[in-house]
Amino acid sequence: MNEQQSTLYALSPERLLTKEERALIWNKSQSHKDSEQERRISEEIVRNWNRGEMKIANILLEGDAGTGKTQLAKALSANFGLPYTKVTCFADMDKSDIIGAILPVLSTEGLEQLELNDQAALKALYEGDGFQSATAILTSVLKFTPEEAVSKLKQLMKLANDHAEGENVEYRFYPSEIVRAYQHGYLLEIQEPNVIRDAAVLMALNSALELDGSLNLPTEVIRRHPDFIVVITTNRSYAGARPLNEALRDRIQHAEKMDLPTKEVMVERAIAKTGYQDEQVLDVLAKIIITLDKAARANAIKGVAGMRSFFYWVDAIAGGASAKESLYYKVIYKITTDSDEIKLLEDALNLEGLIKSLEQLEDHVKKNEKSMRSK
Ligand SMILES: Nc1ncnc2c1ncn2[C@@H]1O[C@H](COP(=O)(O)OP(=O)(O)O)[C@@H](O)[C@H]1O
Ligand SMILES: [Mg+2]
Repeated sequence: MNEQQSTLYALSPERLLTKEERALIWNKSQSHKDSEQERRISEEIVRNWNRGEMKIANILLEGDAGTGKTQLAKALSANFGLPYTKVTCFADMDKSDIIGAILPVLSTEGLEQLELNDQAALKALYEGDGFQSATAILTSVLKFTPEEAVSKLKQLMKLANDHAEGENVEYRFYPSEIVRAYQHGYLLEIQEPNVIRDAAVLMALNSALELDGSLNLPTEVIRRHPDFIVVITTNRSYAGARPLNEALRDRIQHAEKMDLPTKEVMVERAIAKTGYQDEQVLDVLAKIIITLDKAARANAIKGVAGMRSFFYWVDAIAGGASAKESLYYKVIYKITTDSDEIKLLEDALNLEGLIKSLEQLEDHVKKNEKSMRSK
C-alpha cells in the first residue's frame, strides 16, 4: 500500500512515487489550518481533473506578503500527495534558469586548474544522480542558498566552458527545477514571475504552462506530465511594480485574491503557531494589525503589517515584552521608520481607540501574570 492513497483528494491513484519523491510531499504541520481558499481550489482541481481541455492545473495566488500563499501551495501538495518544489524568480533570469544548464565535463587535469571550491562544486554536479536539478545539488551538497546556487551555477558554466579542451568534450544537461517538476509531475510554486525582465524568458515560461504542451530541451523533447500543477504566487502589484505578464495570466485557470485573513482566523493561527492562548489580548492585537494594514494602504505607505509581524509580536508579548513598546519594534518599524508615516499609523489606531485598548491590555496582562505566579 502506498502513502498517497491516504490523501484527501487523490488525482492519479495508480501513480507510484519514488522514496525521494514521497519525501518532497508536504506534511501539514500541527499549526496548519485549512482555509476556505484551500478547500475551494482542491475541489475545483479534482472536479475538472479528467475533463481534458477544462482541466485546472495552473493556479494564481495574488496578495500581500504573509497572506499564506506559499503555505497554501504546500497544503495543495499535501492534499494531492504531489511532491512540492518551488522556484523564486528574479529580474535578470535567463533561459537556462527556466530550461536548465549545459555543462562540459572537465577532465581531471582540467579540474585541477580550478580553485578548490569550484572543483568541489563541479564534482558534486558531475556526481549528481540525475534526480536533483543543478541548483538543488548546489544547495543540498554545498549548502548554498537558492540565490547563491543560481549565480554559482552561472559562474561554473562559464568556468567549465573556458576550461573545456579538445573535440571530445562530453556535455551534460542539468534540467532546471521547473523542467523537473514539468516532466515528473510535481506541484511547482513559481514565486514572483512578474519581476522577470526578459521577454524571451517569459515566453519560455509561458510554454511550460501550456496544458497540453511540450518543451524543447537541448537533449530531448519532453511532454507535460499529467500531474504537473503550477501555483504562481505574486504580491499584489503596487504602484511601480511590474504587473504579471498578460500572456501568463491568460494561462491561469483559477485565481485567488489573497488578503489578510479574518480576525478570527488570525487569532486561531497565532494560537496554533505561538501557543499563546489569551484570546482577549489576541483580539486586540489582531484588530491593530488589521487597522494598520488598512491605514498603510490608504496612505500609500509601502510596508505591510501582515501575519508574520503579528506572530512575532504575539510571541514577544508571550515572552514578557510590553505590548505597547513591542508594537513599535515588532510591527510599526517593520512597516516604516519615517516619522510622518508613523504619525499617520498612530492616528489611525487612535481613531479606533486601539492605543487605549493596548494600554488597558498591559494592565490585564500584568494582572494575569500576578495571578499565575500566586498559583
Ligand atoms: N493555513 C494556515 N494555517 C496556519 N498558519 C498559516 C496558514 N497559512 C499561512 N500561515 C502562516 O502565515 C505565515 C505567512 O505565510 P506564507 O505562506 O509564508 O505567506 P506568503 O507566501 O503569502 O508570504 C507563515 O508563518 C505561515 O506558517
Ligand atoms: Mg511566499
